[in-house]
Amino acid sequence: MTERTERSEGREGMPSGHGMTEGSSTGRTVSRRGLLTGGALTVGGALAGGVTIAAARPDDPGVRPEPVPVAQVGTAVEPFHGARQSGVTTEPQAHAAFVAFTLKPDTDRAAIGRMLRLLSDDAARLTQGRPSLADTEPELGLLPARLTVTFGFGPGLYTAAGRTDRRPASVAELPAFRIDRLQPRWTGGDLLVQICADDPLTVAHAQRVLIKDSRPFATVRWVQQGFRRAAGAEPGRTQRNLFGQLDGTANPKPGTPADTAVWVTDGPAWLHDSTTLVVRRISMNLETWDLLGRTDREIAVGRRLDTGAPLTSTAEYDEPEFAALGPDGLTVIPDFSHLTRAHVTDDRLKLLRRPYNYDGVPTADGHADSGLIFAAYQADITRQFLPIQRRLAERDLLNEWTTPIGSAVFAVPPGCPDGGWIGQQVLD
Ligand code: HEM
Repeated sequence: MTERTERSEGREGMPSGHGMTEGSSTGRTVSRRGLLTGGALTVGGALAGGVTIAAARPDDPGVRPEPVPVAQVGTAVEPFHGARQSGVTTEPQAHAAFVAFTLKPDTDRAAIGRMLRLLSDDAARLTQGRPSLADTEPELGLLPARLTVTFGFGPGLYTAAGRTDRRPASVAELPAFRIDRLQPRWTGGDLLVQICADDPLTVAHAQRVLIKDSRPFATVRWVQQGFRRAAGAEPGRTQRNLFGQLDGTANPKPGTPADTAVWVTDGPAWLHDSTTLVVRRISMNLETWDLLGRTDREIAVGRRLDTGAPLTSTAEYDEPEFAALGPDGLTVIPDFSHLTRAHVTDDRLKLLRRPYNYDGVPTADGHADSGLIFAAYQADITRQFLPIQRRLAERDLLNEWTTPIGSAVFAVPPGCPDGGWIGQQVLD
């Protein structure tokens, strides 16, 4: 546990009401006093011509791949084969579909192997701009747009395969958190494919092919589709979520100890170069958020909306100064801010957050269906994700406007060489 964690955990809980007051021209405001009591490691940037380019941003301590020129967005490729699966440390693409499957009762280890061979072959082709075998719309397979297909195994897959000995210990159903309002339609899953590309038609086609080829073995449990800024719209910048916040600033950076935060770097072949994924569907109440003034929005997260800088500073990547006091004698970054509660100082305990926004069809009377497909990669869910989620569930001002409505955990097995398939080391 970090020094920061200990300090935050020692505080009293937020009293009921915690200073939310009605009033002001913006409607609801948050009382300051009330708040206180209360590349790509990246493989990315590989162009169709096979050139990989990377450049540092002046304000970014890490290195990000140079964005793909807009004219080449369609033809740019990410590798499929390799020691580690793509789609984890790959610079996030603009569009994503997370597809979770339930294995059919008669899908045993041999059948799982057949399915994964087939799906790996589909992914190997489509990611490289080649149609899948017997592709009924081969033209739709020609523009990969940095397509990645990342496979995750839920706890149920290991049981069905008779391989519970190879399930990473932390890949187990999460404990219930008091903030959870989980809906079965967004929860669980035996197999996940995370499909990401800079073109939504490419994602749709890959989704169609992968679902079609999995049909003899599994049923679709849920699909979550999400988006970020269009490729080339805001090159090299941290993405914004639907609250308008820069989301991803504190992610482990390439060239830092990110390797050990994200990847398992030792152990047997089925574990080495694997990672784990937590997918939480978190609904965001844009209507009540809209009632807040700008200052209160910034207080809720502990960072500025324009630059993403901590409230104690001016630039996005500046370190937050949690002990700094304002003229009123209160800490500038409130103890209940999302930043304070989520912060970890130990690089090995960081999460690689790779979220996508979702924005469903509003109800007839205009209420939004919006939120975040929160996707976090880490070497070990118990060691990294759980302590942070516990702190956030206990006290995080952002909980006023966010509600987890779906949850699933997956092991992301190592990648595979040309001619191999994802999961081979796990099942063999
Ligand atoms: C809709 C829900 C959420 C929203 C809108 C949100 C938004 C944000 C924002 C704006 C930041 C600051 C910028 C950054 O470093 O990315 C942040 C940081 C962070 N969030 Fe969240 N977040 C959400 C849910 C979660 C959840 C569920 C977790 C994990 C359980 C989490 C973990 C973190 C972590 C670890 C940081 C970095 C803190 C640091 O070390 O500075 N967030 N989030």
